Formats: sequence, structure tokens, C-alpha cells
Amino acid sequence: MKRPQYLPLFRLWHWLTAFSVLGLFATVALRSTFLDKKANAQIILNKLASISIDQEQAVAVAKAIRTPMWEWHYLLGFLLAAAVAWRVFLMLRGQARMPLLKLLQAQGLHEKGKAAIHLLICLGILVMTVTGLFYYFCDSESFHWVKEIHQSLLWPMVILVLLHIGGVLTHELSTKECIVSKMIHGDEEASQKR
Ligand code: HEM
Ligand code: HEM
Repeated sequence: MKRPQYLPLFRLWHWLTAFSVLGLFATVALRSTFLDKKANAQIILNKLASISIDQEQAVAVAKAIRTPMWEWHYLLGFLLAAAVAWRVFLMLRGQARMPLLKLLQAQGLHEKGKAAIHLLICLGILVMTVTGLFYYFCDSESFHWVKEIHQSLLWPMVILVLLHIGGVLTHELSTKECIVSKMIHGDEEASQKR
């Protein structure tokens, strides 16, 4: 009998992670488009042309409008930190594999590629969480490099997640293994039948 891989607590970890990472991407996307402080400050200046306010005041108003949305970045950030702690707990209990071990044990190029992407996603999430939490609690100019690491990992993370979702969907459509369904409903039954 094959050991089930997609146990309930593992699935919970996966969807908690996916939900918070996709939500974090959304907050960053909103911050740099509809709620961009410079673009919105310009709209405020144009619309309030009859009242004399300067660029700095307009940016302050634009930032105040953005703040409630950006609070979600922190909320989702703490959720992601909880998911990281959850994953460590699962690995200690033997209910999830160590991503590095999974890569070392993977057979064949395809399995190795998949395991490498999973490892990079896990490492990326870990660095994002540590730098994000550090910057949240210690917002000082002398630690600006921490924020730079945090910011510069955005695009690598987006690319890794797109590769992951693309790979999962390709696998789903080209095989009968139904991995997406297993990640939702589990594979305990399928493992018992074998
Ligand atoms: C930001 C979003 C996501 C992140 C960060 C993420 C992260 C991960 C990670 C790290 C793994 C490897 C787990 C392990 O074995 O240690 C994984 C596996 C998996 N993910 Fe995601 N995931 C995301 C979104 C999705 C979505 C949207 C789907 C469904 C369409 C999905 C379906 C799966 C499946 C089916 C597996 C198992 C792959 C296998 O065992 O071959 N993921 N995910
Ligand atoms: C996949 C995960 C994450 C991504 C992609 C991400 C992305 C970003 C980006 C791009 C910025 C810069 C925004 C800008 O200045 O335009 C940022 C800022 C920030 N992030 Fe994250 N982040 C993630 C996770 C986290 C986590 C887990 C926390 C922890 C609470 C966090 C806390 C912060 C803080 C404190 C800032 C600075 C905000 C500011 O200066 O106004 N982030 N993040």
C-alpha cells in the first residue's frame, strides 16, 4: 500500500501558503497601479486645482487612501509566517518532506526540475517572511538593505509561482494522476486501493 502524500494538514499548509502568497502579490499589484501614490497625488492636484495644496500634501492624502489596502500586506504576511511555522511543524512530525531532501531523492530530470522549483519557492517564501517581519518590526534607515532584498525577490517569486501553476496545470491536463484534486480532497482513499 502506497503511503498517502496529501494528508489533510499538509493540504491545509499548501492552500494557506497559496492564499497568502497570491494575496500578497495582489496587494503589491494594487500598490503599484490603482493606488500608486504618485499617480493618485497627481489626480488629487489636478482635481483640487482651485485649492492650493502642494505635491507633498497630495502624496500624504494618496498614501492615506492606500493605507487600509496595504494593511492587508501585513495581515497576509503574518498568515504566511504562520504557514511557514506550520510547515516546519509538519516536517518535524514527518507529515511533510524537507524540500532539499525531496530534490536530492528525486529521480529523473522532470522530477528533479519540479523538486527544484518547490525548493526555490520554499526558500523564497522563507527569505520574504524573515525580511518582511524584520522590516515590519524594525523600520530603520540603517536596515534599508533588508527592504531591498525583500523588494528584489518580488519578480523571482512571481516567475516561480507562474512556473509552478503552469507545471501543475500541464500535469493535470496531460496525465490521469489528478494531482490538483488530490491537493484538494487528499489521496488517502487512492492509496488504500493500491
Ligand atoms: C502562490 C501560490 C502557490 C504556492 C506558493 C504553492 C506552493 C507549493 C509548494 C511549495 C509545493 C510543494 C509541496 C511539497 O511537496 O513540499 C506545491 C505543491 C503543489 N501545488 Fe502549489 N502552490 C501555489 C499555488 C497552487 C495552485 C493555484 C495550485 C492548483 C492549481 C497548486 C497545486 C499544487 C499541487 C497539485 C501540488 C503537488 C505537486 C506534486 O506533488 O507533484 N498550487 N505547491
Ligand atoms: C511572497 C511574499 C511577499 C511579497 C511578494 C512581498 C512583496 C513586497 C514588496 C514588492 C514590497 C515593496 C513595496 C513598495 O515599496 O513598493 C514589500 C514591502 C513590505 N513588505 Fe512584503 N512581501 C511579501 C511578504 C511579506 C511578509 C511575510 C511580511 C511580514 C509582515 C511583509 C512585510 C512587508 C513590509 C513591512 C514592507 C515595507 C512596507 C513599506 O515600506 O511601506 N511582506 N513587500
